[in-house]
Amino acid sequence: MSPTEPSEARASDRGLKSEMTQIRRFSENDTQITPETYAELEAIAARYPEPRSGLLPMLHLVQSVEGRVTSEGIEACAKVLGISAADVSGVATFYTMYKRKPVGDYLVGVCTNTLCAVMGGDVIFDRLKEHLDVGNDETSEDGAITLEHIECNAACDYAPVMMVNWEFMDNQTPESAVQVVDALRAGEAVHSTRGPKLCTWKQAERVLAGFNDGLANEGPAAGPASLVGLEIARERGWKAPTSDSSGPTEEPGTKIEAVEEADTSRAESETLSKEVK
Ligand code: FES
Repeated sequence: MSPTEPSEARASDRGLKSEMTQIRRFSENDTQITPETYAELEAIAARYPEPRSGLLPMLHLVQSVEGRVTSEGIEACAKVLGISAADVSGVATFYTMYKRKPVGDYLVGVCTNTLCAVMGGDVIFDRLKEHLDVGNDETSEDGAITLEHIECNAACDYAPVMMVNWEFMDNQTPESAVQVVDALRAGEAVHSTRGPKLCTWKQAERVLAGFNDGLANEGPAAGPASLVGLEIARERGWKAPTSDSSGPTEEPGTKIEAVEEADTSRAESETLSKEVK
């Protein structure tokens, strides 16, 4: 493909525009780390027998204050923990939840792992890239939405799944995903498909730092699709084996019977599907 072909030129324009947005946001972002931030970082470190164990939530606090992990935030964590900035930086650059570029008001992650991808995740991600005119890990021109593709969020039973600031948006379509980002950009109240009202990314980061916003129990802990297996197990009297070395607690033969029953069910369903064909 020639460098001047339209799709490549468009990607190049978009990359430049995104870079300029990032630079503008970066230059506007003078550090917000204050003595109060230091006090909260110390409070987090004090939760753990080994203060260094608090580094992950401390970095979330930095993100809630700065909108990303800044050099000042790294220095603050290092100072509180008595470790080097390189040590902190090594952690901050290892995990994808820590961002070195400014994040928009809402971090929208589209699961493009295997199951979500085949159920429509790839199409959703492409539609949002086009709609927002951004690439992966880039922020829309208005600073409202940062888009990224994410790995499995253990919500495959609701595929394809999108996350907004780590709240679930289950069973999405390209159209519903566009509606969600448009509503967020318009400043409308948007709720996760599991109930909770979506907060901003900085607010969510503060919760991940361990500061309770009182909303942790909004919405169900597990939806119906996640509980189907449990219901089947209850109906059939299946129980998990205990973890001690003495082995399963069920009556001898129960486990074997359960396996036989599962095999029989599978054989029946395979026979049925052959008959249908
Ligand atoms: S593959 Fe998307 S949540 Fe598991």
